[in-house]
Amino acid sequence: MPELIRESVASDFPVLEGLYPLAFPDEDLLPLLRDLFASGCDLLSLVAEADGAVVGHVVFTMVQVGRTDVKAALLGPVAVGPDRQKQGIGSALIERGFSLLADENVSRIFVLGDPAYYGRFGFGPESKVVTPFEIPVEWREGWQSRTLSDGASDVSGTLVVPEPWNKRDLWAPPE
Ligand SMILES: CC(C)(COP(=O)(O)OP(=O)(O)OC[C@H]1O[C@@H](n2cnc3c(N)ncnc32)[C@H](O)[C@@H]1OP(=O)(O)O)[C@@H](O)C(=O)NCCC(=O)NCCS
Repeated sequence: MPELIRESVASDFPVLEGLYPLAFPDEDLLPLLRDLFASGCDLLSLVAEADGAVVGHVVFTMVQVGRTDVKAALLGPVAVGPDRQKQGIGSALIERGFSLLADENVSRIFVLGDPAYYGRFGFGPESKVVTPFEIPVEWREGWQSRTLSDGASDVSGTLVVPEPWNKRDLWAPPE
């Protein structure tokens, strides 16, 4: 477990620039992170500290479902340094995010990721809310959601994402 989970600040970015290429050797997610932080869009960005150093990160982006007023967030990316994985840090970051978002009355969370991992956080296949770009067939089972509070279980429409997420490449496996 991490010693501390806190909201990220601008001075954490150089650490994230080191952490992400280690966690994702085949995928460069730093441009997305840079855009998210620079865009001023509504985010929840959390870092985990262990032994006084940042060892993990997660970001949730506030999104809209069609024209509904459902408060919703998109989870990802999440990264933990390879030497700190399997110590509960990723889970702690995600669960803290859920708790902070629930406090803000966010009722639905979406994710595009491995169901084998996200299933443990209560995510299941999403079919009524569609992604801004069509997901290639090999990734389709990765599109998942979970509710955080009652009342948002039956939403449908197209996910409306802020500009940093409005890129086809982010909705397909890396080449
Ligand atoms: C995925 C990741 C964030 C998990 O962080 P973590 O701190 O290692 O996670 P936790 O310790 O809380 O949980 C680890 C558990 O998840 C499992 N797990 C990790 N990645 C998994 C995957 N892709 N599929 C299935 N299970 C996975 C581990 O086997 C472990 O299982 P166990 O608890 O039964 O031993 C981290 O491994 C990571 O940064 N990976 C590389 C980047 C990545 O794939 N990010 C997620 C996609 S956005």
